[in-house]
Amino acid sequence: MPVSVLTGAGISTDSGIPDFRGPQGVWTKNPQAEANATIDRYVADPGVRRSAWRARLDSPAWSAHPNAAHLALVDLERAGLLRALITQNIDELHQRAGSAPGKVIELHGTMHRAECLSCDLITPMDEVLARVAAGEDDPPCPRCGGIQKSNTISFGQSLKPEVLDAARRAAQSCRVFVAVGTSLTVHPAAGLCGEALDAGASLVIVNAEPTPYDPFADRVINEPIGQALPTLVKELIDAAR
Ligand SMILES: NC(=O)c1ccc[n+]([C@@H]2O[C@H](COP(=O)([O-])OP(=O)(O)OC[C@H]3O[C@@H](n4cnc5c(N)ncnc54)[C@H](O)[C@@H]3O)[C@@H](O)[C@H]2O)c1
Ligand SMILES: [Zn+2]
Repeated sequence: MPVSVLTGAGISTDSGIPDFRGPQGVWTKNPQAEANATIDRYVADPGVRRSAWRARLDSPAWSAHPNAAHLALVDLERAGLLRALITQNIDELHQRAGSAPGKVIELHGTMHRAECLSCDLITPMDEVLARVAAGEDDPPCPRCGGIQKSNTISFGQSLKPEVLDAARRAAQSCRVFVAVGTSLTVHPAAGLCGEALDAGASLVIVNAEPTPYDPFADRVINEPIGQALPTLVKELIDAAR
């Protein structure tokens, strides 16, 4: 019974990384931050870039550890039931928890690398953040001098086609599609729920707040993920025995 899982920021809040749209979300508290999160604003405004580098340097993600929900998905994989773990998160906590890198599809990239917007050079984020900490408030690309940002998908940027294709195949080839900790408002990620349903999968949603896909789900679990996901994984493993 292959299971594909889509995770969002809500799976990492128990690890101390705030989500965007939950009650304590970064954008719920500061709507201006959402307006500044587009690629156009980032390229046009050095002030937006300076605050983005400061936020990256100060991110709680650098000291975060995987929580019980990340670990439950490792159990699901070790039971042989995981088709793919599609994540909108950029924190790499699934891999840190022990999910096989080959199973994890990072739809929105990773904050652990930086990229140059001019020459596409990819560098480890810690090297760039060391420059920020040393006083460069908007460190240019070491190769071409271009603007750098984290190797993540900003609003206004397209997902990598091969990554989205892999996610679509995983959504279309599972019996159960589980969406965890995502408001299901960011497309095309949210649309994977519809693609799984169209292909005949059942949809399970684990999220504290309602989502647009709740009416189509076979099961909606509005409970804290740290408890609800380990329980659900245990049920899936027991059902497969
Ligand atoms: N950890 C990260 O990597 C991280 C953090 C913030 C934002 N993001 C990015 O922001 C975008 C945000 O979209 P999204 O849908 O992933 O997040 P979102 O902020 O839109 O939604 C998160 C959802 O999780 C729910 N939630 C939070 N903590 C929960 C808990 N402990 N138990 C139950 N429900 C909980 C909230 O109610 C909310 O509906 C993503 O594309 C992602 O790239 C990533
Ligand atoms: Zn460059």
